[in-house]
Amino acid sequence: MSRAPSPRAHLASVPVYIPGRSAAEAMAEHGIAEAVKLASNEVPFGPLPGVAAAVMGALAESYRYADHDSDELASVYAATLGLTRDRVAVGPGSVGLLQQLTLAYAGQDDEVLYPWPSFIAYPQFSGVVAANRVVVPLRRCSIDIDAVLAAITPRTRIVFIANPNNPIAGALRTADLRRLVEGAPADCLVVVDEAYREFVTGADVPDALGLLAEFPNVVVLRTLSKAYGMAGLRVGFMIGDPVVVAAVYATMIPFAVNGPAQAAALVALQQGNEMRRRCAVIVGERERVGQLIRRRGLGLPEAQGNFWWMPVGSRAGELAVALEQRGVVVRPFPAGIRVTVGLPAENDAFLVALDAVLTDAPDFADGWTLPTGDRARRTADLLDEIRVAAVGADDERARSLDRIGARLAELGDDDWDMLDTGGGDAGAGDSGADVRLDELVRFLAGRPAPGGVPVNP
Ligand SMILES: Cc1ncc(COP(=O)(O)O)c(C=O)c1O
Repeated sequence: MSRAPSPRAHLASVPVYIPGRSAAEAMAEHGIAEAVKLASNEVPFGPLPGVAAAVMGALAESYRYADHDSDELASVYAATLGLTRDRVAVGPGSVGLLQQLTLAYAGQDDEVLYPWPSFIAYPQFSGVVAANRVVVPLRRCSIDIDAVLAAITPRTRIVFIANPNNPIAGALRTADLRRLVEGAPADCLVVVDEAYREFVTGADVPDALGLLAEFPNVVVLRTLSKAYGMAGLRVGFMIGDPVVVAAVYATMIPFAVNGPAQAAALVALQQGNEMRRRCAVIVGERERVGQLIRRRGLGLPEAQGNFWWMPVGSRAGELAVALEQRGVVVRPFPAGIRVTVGLPAENDAFLVALDAVLTDAPDFADGWTLPTGDRARRTADLLDEIRVAAVGADDERARSLDRIGARLAELGDDDWDMLDTGGGDAGAGDSGADVRLDELVRFLAGRPAPGGVPVNP
């Protein structure tokens, strides 16, 4: 019997993208009548107003090829950022742009560097071009900038940074990102993937667009898949130096962004207010349910995207199946599960399923890699106190800050991971607490009212 030709040997070690399971798959597999999908970091509200009509309208022209460069869309997007059109590339989702960037900048024997755990497209695409993948482990829940800088060599062509990170949901702060960019050589691209930018509420989480004028080797990725609710239509943006933009267009398949998607994107970009309103609902739910999880004695790291990271340890796969059997589809990873923030009823269904699983098998909490029990509950109290300080009147705020200061002094390193994954070295101990208090005050200064509009959407 003849055999199909073998693909290139190095592909055998390249991770394959595994999409989140659909609710229908889970229902069929477990024989259940209902399930919710909280597995792919989608936003649950349906298309923004006018988007479906724009798609329908554009279908009439779909017998023709669309605009290859998405020129009108790129111009409109550039104008919203106050930039010229030659600084924006439009691609088939930011993941398409990630692939195009990798094809344009890295090949065999080059190095591509990324913190890990992070987004699977980084190892996938750098693996496809046979680059050497240099993986820098997170330090606890944070990107370790010193380790990233130490791992850069003259052969490093690309550094991928997801900010906020995915699946571990924290974010780098301004000083750390700047330190990375200043330390990276000029011939190494620093790709700041801001797929979850619109959900960021923590103060001092940088908008990497602010680095572009100074650093031609920095590029920023944005997407309409998440906050703009267009995951199925595949539109992403890369913003950077015109040289990089031209390179990214050179590696794009012809007509990669189809006409209905371009038309939809033009309409979606006009819906900024509605997009921000929806993000505020998600952020409110992220905070509400995050606190309820901590109050169950399960520590969570900071969440700056539209998802929680549950550091369940090596039994993540089992926990995901147990939740699926109870009608909630989440995304398992080797060290934990990622749960997308959904509608309030979906999040409540998740909590019910979690409670049921933990009642049946309380030992799921044993492998948790952040503090559990009272320490997790104390963090929840502290976060509530922070919220009071953020929105309270001056005297109330001062009292809260005193109480917060007293509690901070009692924290250990991994308690800090639950509050703020950015911010570098300061951990437990007296001097660390002082540094952190200072950070916290800045954090408070930028924090929106609960359910308010996220910072810098
Ligand atoms: C960090 C990160 N970047 C990019 C993407 C891909 O987004 P898009 O739908 O624009 O390809 C994702 C999707 O999950 C992501 O988590």
